[in-house]
Amino acid sequence: MSQNRRMMKLGAFLPAPGHHVAAWRHPNARPDGGLDFDYYRSLAVAAERGKFDMIFLSDGAGVRTKYKDADELSRQGRMVHFEPLTLLSALAVHTRHIGLTATASTTYNAPFTVARQFASLDHLSAGRSGWNVVTSATDAEARNFNLDKQPEHAARYHRAREFMEVVTGLWDSWEDDAFLYDKESGRFFDPEKLHILGHQGEHFSVRGPLNVARPPQGHPVIVQAGSSKDGQDFAARWAEVVFTVQQTLEQAQAHYRGLKEQVAAYGRNPDHVKIMPGAFIVVGRTQAEAEDKYATLQALVDPVVGLGMLSYQLGMVDLSGYPLDGPLPELPALEGSAGKQAVLYAQARRQGLTIRELYLATAAGRGHRFLLGTPEVIADQLEDWFLNEGADGYNIMPDYLPDGLDAIVDLLVPELQRRGLVRREYEGRTLRDHLGLPRPDFSRTPASAVTA
Ligand SMILES: Cc1cc2nc3c(=O)[nH]c(=O)nc-3n(C[C@H](O)[C@H](O)[C@H](O)COP(=O)(O)O)c2cc1C
Repeated sequence: MSQNRRMMKLGAFLPAPGHHVAAWRHPNARPDGGLDFDYYRSLAVAAERGKFDMIFLSDGAGVRTKYKDADELSRQGRMVHFEPLTLLSALAVHTRHIGLTATASTTYNAPFTVARQFASLDHLSAGRSGWNVVTSATDAEARNFNLDKQPEHAARYHRAREFMEVVTGLWDSWEDDAFLYDKESGRFFDPEKLHILGHQGEHFSVRGPLNVARPPQGHPVIVQAGSSKDGQDFAARWAEVVFTVQQTLEQAQAHYRGLKEQVAAYGRNPDHVKIMPGAFIVVGRTQAEAEDKYATLQALVDPVVGLGMLSYQLGMVDLSGYPLDGPLPELPALEGSAGKQAVLYAQARRQGLTIRELYLATAAGRGHRFLLGTPEVIADQLEDWFLNEGADGYNIMPDYLPDGLDAIVDLLVPELQRRGLVRREYEGRTLRDHLGLPRPDFSRTPASAVTA
C-alpha cells in the first residue's frame, strides 16, 4: 500500500445503543451501555481492530432528545451516558492507535477549561485527541446554564470564533521544547519559551498561560459539524475534519466543492480539511441477511417515538389525532414551503405513505445517507462518493451496537481493504498522522511583550 495514495478516512460514531432509533430494544443491544466502561472499551477495541482513524462521541450539555412529554421521553434510548472527555481519557489507556474525538460546546464552556481538557487528553493518549466544536442547538441545554433560551444563532457563532482564538492561543502557551527539567541548573523551563496569551476580547478575558504543556499534536484535531451558513464559514476557517449530512452524490459534491473553495479563500490548503458525510450502515453477508436485520429494528420502533420524531421533523405538527395506518393528512402550512419538512411532506403525498410508513422511512439514519446490503454493495457506494469529490471519508454510523460495529469491522472493512481504500495497519502514531494533517506550527508573541 503506497504511503502517498489517498486513503478513505473512517470515523466510528458510537452513541451507546447505536444509531437506529430502536437500537436499544434489539435483543442483543446493551441499553445500559452508556454508563458501562467495559462495553465502551470493547467498542473502542473493535474500532481499532478495524483500523478506523478515530472514534467519535457526540454530546450535549443536557438531555437533548426532542420529546413532548415524560411518556415519550421514557421510550427513548439515549438518555444517560458518560461525559465524553472522561470516557475518552479512560479509553486512551486501553487503546494504542485510534483517534479519540468528542464534542464540547463553545456556548456552555469556558475556553480555558476546554483548552486544558483537550490538551490533557492529547498528552494522555500520546497525540490522539480531536475536538468536535459545536455551538449547541437546543433550549434544553440553555436551561442547564442559567438561561431560559439559547443565545441567537449568530451570537453563538460570534462567541465560538473568539473561543477558538483563545483555545488555540492557550495551546501555544509553551513552545514544544520549553520544558528543560534541568535539575543541575535549576531551570524547570526556558523562560524564553513561555508565551502569555493576554487575550482581551468581547466575550473573554484570558491571560494564560495554560497549565498543560503544548499538546503532542501541537493542537488537537479540530472537527466541525455545523450545516448553517455560519457553520460552514466557521468550518472553512477552523475545521480539519467536517462531518456532514447528505443523501445524494450531487448534494455531497456541491457541499464538498463549495467548502473546499471556502477553505482556500481563508488561505488554507483544501487537502487539510477532510470532509466526512455520515453513513448509516446495515451490512449482512447477503442482501437478505441485511434486510432481515433492518426489518428486526424497524419492527421495534415504538409508535410513540416514531410519531414524536415525525412530528418534530415536520416542524412540530400535532399528528396524535390521526390513525397511524391512515394517510398523512393535508397540512396546508407545508404546501409549497421550502426545507426539509416540505421534502418529507411532499414525499409522503407523492408516494401515498401512511403516517407509520413515513416515520419508519426516516427512523434509520435521521437524514444521513442510508446504506444497506452486502459488503460489496456498500463498498461500491462508499467508493463512488470518495472517488468523485463527494467525500474524503465517512463518519460511520452502525445500526445497533455492539453487533453492528463488529459486522462493519469484519465484513465491510476487509472489502474496503481489498480495494486499497483503507489501511491494513496503522502507519503513523497520532490522529494527525492517520488523517494526513500537518502539525500546526507554534505561533505566539514572546512573553515579554505581554507579561507586564
Ligand atoms: C455528525 C454530526 C454530529 C453532531 N454532533 C453534535 C453534538 O455532539 N452536539 C451538538 O450539540 N451538536 C451536534 N451536531 C449538530 C451541529 O454540529 C451543532 O449543533 C452545531 O453547532 C449547530 O450548527 P449549525 O446551526 O451550523 O448547523 C452534529 C451534527 C452532525 C452532522
